[in-house]
Amino acid sequence: MSLPSVNPTKTEAWKALENHFQKIKTRQMQSVFSENSNRAERFKIEWQDFYLDYSKNRIDTETISLLLNLAEEVKLKEAIQQQFTGAKINKTEDRAVLHTALRDFESMKPEVKNTLQKMRNFSEAIISGNHRGFTGKPITDVVNIGIGGSHLGPEMVTEALQFYKNHLQIHFVANVDGDAVAEILKKVDPETTLFIIVSKSFTTQETLVNATVIRNWFLEKASENDVQKHFVAVSANISEATNFGISENNIFPMQDWVGGRFSLWSAVGLSISCAVGFNNFEAMLKGAFEADKHFENEEFETNIPVILALLSVWYNNFFNTETEAVVTYSQYLHKLVPYLQQAVMESNGKSVDRNGEKINYETGTIVWGSVGTNAQHAFFQLLHQGTKLIPTDFIGFCEPLHGNIENNNILMANFFAQTEALWEGTHNKTVENSFKFFEGNKPTNTLLIKKLTPKNLGSLIAFYEHKLFVQGIVWNIFSYDQWGVELGKTVAKGTLNAIEKRQLAQVENASTKNLVSKLIAE
Ligand code: F6P
Repeated sequence: MSLPSVNPTKTEAWKALENHFQKIKTRQMQSVFSENSNRAERFKIEWQDFYLDYSKNRIDTETISLLLNLAEEVKLKEAIQQQFTGAKINKTEDRAVLHTALRDFESMKPEVKNTLQKMRNFSEAIISGNHRGFTGKPITDVVNIGIGGSHLGPEMVTEALQFYKNHLQIHFVANVDGDAVAEILKKVDPETTLFIIVSKSFTTQETLVNATVIRNWFLEKASENDVQKHFVAVSANISEATNFGISENNIFPMQDWVGGRFSLWSAVGLSISCAVGFNNFEAMLKGAFEADKHFENEEFETNIPVILALLSVWYNNFFNTETEAVVTYSQYLHKLVPYLQQAVMESNGKSVDRNGEKINYETGTIVWGSVGTNAQHAFFQLLHQGTKLIPTDFIGFCEPLHGNIENNNILMANFFAQTEALWEGTHNKTVENSFKFFEGNKPTNTLLIKKLTPKNLGSLIAFYEHKLFVQGIVWNIFSYDQWGVELGKTVAKGTLNAIEKRQLAQVENASTKNLVSKLIAE
């Protein structure tokens, strides 16, 4: 079974949306709340600990109903079913896409259960100190060596769940820049450090280079026999991991139906399980599972990821917005944006459709953002008064984890005030001069969540995963491959060869040739 292929621009709904857009595009919508006392109620979704308010958007009921028609015409329901039932919807790599199976507590595959058990046992032994290093000392530091999906998810979650963290220090080595690994090695002791090499393919240059540097550093103090006490691997490529010198016992397997950027739920999450304990890791999986059920079963009109995705399509394809921002009113979520950048842009940065034809409409959104309130003192000027329209997601939590109510009241006041100010502008107010004028009419979604728990974090991440999938379905692209990262890798191989052999003749491009010659001359 393959995904339905529908050119969205040829649907009835798209044509209707184009006409509808003509009515909405210049409309100053600030007065909609006074015109319709029900608006805030109408455009909200409540689900478990989540409250999505999407009333401050440039939409009316017709917009939503046309967007829902679009979802129907592109056969979204059928696509969701195909994903959850394991059809090979990642067609260009001939793979199913089943990260949802990693958290399906109703019918968990035996291989998933076994790996989770192995993760539980291992992380508990590390945390309790039962697992000892080569000189008999307990582990104090864990270093995750991996890049892309083998780094961004675990790091984002480890940061987000810092409040739940135990005594272990968790570090991440991703960049092939030797300065990065050198700085981490300054901080850790080979006798008390566990290294987790995370690579689905076990062929990623950066990860293998860093793992080799680290192993050599380790062997300056320890012997080959000690490697097994300090190095484990997470991979779908068992033979390459064993070739690297990791014993099979120390390999945590992952399946080829788990894409890198969706892999934090798999054994890739081992560093998370070490950082916050397996029970918290499992709670996060459960939160994601609940979100999966909501996505799969909820009517589209009250389906959080579907609504978020359709709103994003509305701005991207009709208002022609270039980017969308995400601002988290939680310091703990400070790594959410880099994580989403890979998830969203590696998935949906495509310009051929599912038939391999060049696309003549916009696809992948550019995601950026930061943490509130810091961002208010950085880029919010541009959100409020710049020439670009930037739809923004605001994410915040009602209950503070630290118990400091005073700080939290100020944080939340800013959180709510910003969406209001972006929407209202200085509408109906007298301003001294044009510099102090705020146009308003700036769209935002507010995701207000009860508390930052592992479970709620799991649901939040899963919602964003599903959002990008829905967008990919609407745009008629394959969201789960990433051929766009391959060319750079191939060119870098040739360039490295030229640098190492100091052979400029191997470099074709004149600009690159100059750059290489400058490097060689240094
Ligand atoms: O950047 C390309 C990519 O393949 C990502 O999709 C992936 O997350 C990352 O490289 C790392 O891959 P691996 O886990 O195989 O080392």
